[in-house]
Amino acid sequence: MGSFVDQVKKSDLNGTSLAEKNVTVVFVLGGPGSGKGTQCAKIVETFGFTHLSAGDLLRAEITSGSENGTMIQNMIKDGKIVPSEVTIKLLEQAMLKNANDKFLIDGFPRNEENRAAFELVTGISPAFVLCLDCPEEDMEKRLLGRNQGREDDNIVTIRKRFKVFLESSLPVIEYYDSIGKVRKINAAKQVDEVFADVESVFTKLFKKINV
Ligand code: C5P
Ligand code: MG
Repeated sequence: MGSFVDQVKKSDLNGTSLAEKNVTVVFVLGGPGSGKGTQCAKIVETFGFTHLSAGDLLRAEITSGSENGTMIQNMIKDGKIVPSEVTIKLLEQAMLKNANDKFLIDGFPRNEENRAAFELVTGISPAFVLCLDCPEEDMEKRLLGRNQGREDDNIVTIRKRFKVFLESSLPVIEYYDSIGKVRKINAAKQVDEVFADVESVFTKLFKKINV
């Protein structure tokens, strides 16, 4: 049994339709509670991106009652990473049905397989990777303090999510760093202070809207 990456390599699935659309993608990464969603909302307002949160898409899949719903729900409850095949399909569909050509993909790629499979299936490599850097204690406080009714915002699952972040997601950030694509921001500050730094990163490549 091969991984999803092996399966894709063997098949002729090559995502030409998305490649034809010629989209620009920025990945937004950082630990759980680092402020990815919050900063993405501000980037959307300022630079006209469309925000796609992998976690939100997976949660929507649970509530839609899809055949994968129960599997996704169990994995999220346990802080585990859902198979790439499932998440990539959701991201691809979301990009294809949206007329915008600039996407922020938040919380993805979460591990090496997510990363390799996405590049293989879609043919897309990110313009850059925004990395929100925040100490675990701050992230833990934020997660326990926010009230979004999420089943995974409890201390037991939070600890598992931190472990998965260190073991599986940090290597992805290190990979992108090795090819010069990481833009690292100190995210242990107030929202607007963090955004000031985010803004200066985006301004180098993208124009502001409504100015
Ligand atoms: O990014 P967010 O905190 O919303 O992710 C919540 C959960 O969704 C993760 O802990 C993980 O279980 C799942 N997820 C995933 N693969 C991704 C993004 C999120 O399995 N690429
Ligand atoms: Mg989020």
